[in-house]
Amino acid sequence: MKNKSPSFTRRHLLEIGTGATLVAAAGVIWRANERGVIGEKGQEPYKPWEIWNDPAHRGTPLALVAAGVLASNPHNTQPWLFRVSDTRIDILADTSRNLGTFDPYLREMHVGLGCAVENMVLAAAPNGYAVTVTPHAGSLLDIGGRDEPVLAATLHLARGDAPADPLYSAIPKRHTNRNPYDRARGFPDALLHDFAAIPHDENLKLYLFQSGAAYETLGAAIIAATDEIVADHAMIEDSHRWFRDGPQEMERERSGLELDTAGLSPALLAVAKMLPALPAEQSHGTWADQTRDTHVPSAALLGLIAARDRYDRPQTLAAGRLWQRVHLAAGAAGLAMHPLNQPVEMIDRERQLGTESKAEARFAAVTGDEAWQPTFVFRGGYAIRDAAVSARRGAEMVTETV
Ligand SMILES: Cc1cc2nc3c(=O)[nH]c(=O)nc-3n(C[C@H](O)[C@H](O)[C@H](O)COP(=O)(O)O)c2cc1C
Repeated sequence: MKNKSPSFTRRHLLEIGTGATLVAAAGVIWRANERGVIGEKGQEPYKPWEIWNDPAHRGTPLALVAAGVLASNPHNTQPWLFRVSDTRIDILADTSRNLGTFDPYLREMHVGLGCAVENMVLAAAPNGYAVTVTPHAGSLLDIGGRDEPVLAATLHLARGDAPADPLYSAIPKRHTNRNPYDRARGFPDALLHDFAAIPHDENLKLYLFQSGAAYETLGAAIIAATDEIVADHAMIEDSHRWFRDGPQEMERERSGLELDTAGLSPALLAVAKMLPALPAEQSHGTWADQTRDTHVPSAALLGLIAARDRYDRPQTLAAGRLWQRVHLAAGAAGLAMHPLNQPVEMIDRERQLGTESKAEARFAAVTGDEAWQPTFVFRGGYAIRDAAVSARRGAEMVTETV
């Protein structure tokens, strides 16, 4: 047999090598494109942030809904339906979009509905309306099924000519920022005063901590609760159902959580997007690491909203309205905010399981007053990176005209 010349072998190998490299590179590019690492992300799920004050809807109830759908809400479940007529908007909890064991009493869901109500109230005056909000009375503990929409509040619409609230224009700029914050820059006193001056339901109390024993205890409670959640298989599976695996799934669902908003560095984000989706244990383990190593220690501000009764439906709605205003005020001032509600999620879970409430006891050490029941926990500060925009279902997708 004729020997191959060394040069032929080298060239041959080189050709195979080059071919393999090209195939691999094409594969990487294809996957990078498919996973939204490079190229345009799907646009539709993010459009509601651009058309939130669309002239086509100006002066109509749909303009209020378009502002409402941009609200903060748990796991981006967008658990709302809007039943609209010329004189009223009913805001309904779409209970099918629940978080299972992560929110067994739909408390978080109703906080999120309160956030939507606040955005809608802010959008009323610029659209020529005066609104009165009537929250639906009763206890969250009495809501049974998860298949029927449940009325949360009604907005009664009248014509009005009041000026716009300055927070109105902050609506499309508010985003949850899960990146590291620069704690050394602190938190502006003027904004703390603005927060404290926000008018709210007398059954609510806002706590703000920048340092000291209460700050440390609350930070430790957030970390402990996160570890407990990660150890609870049912909770992380229920949470995981709302994680979207890539742009195509997000294009379809237009709701839920995605890697872009997870607060990863650009390099880590690119790598994470290329890999197959992590199972619930691993993704939530990463979240616990971020909470312990980044979210809590970098927080210039830790805060909480407490209610007289965290399962009272009007109080829960009012807590959401207050949170939305706090977040909008922060956004308008260039400060980042991030809910860290794990300790309250654990209170609900312990109640559901009928186990001793360790989470509640930790809070008592923070507030020093068990008469105030925390229902929402957050951090604030100057972020090292801007937050990415989260997906939304547009107003028309969640509105029924009657
Ligand atoms: C009641 C409630 C609880 C929340 N809990 C958390 C939380 O524990 N951790 C977190 O990162 N974000 C939390 N969020 C923020 C939502 O995930 C976020 O608002 C949603 O994904 C939409 O994104 P956006 O705020 O950027 O519009 C919570 C929001 C609400 C209203």
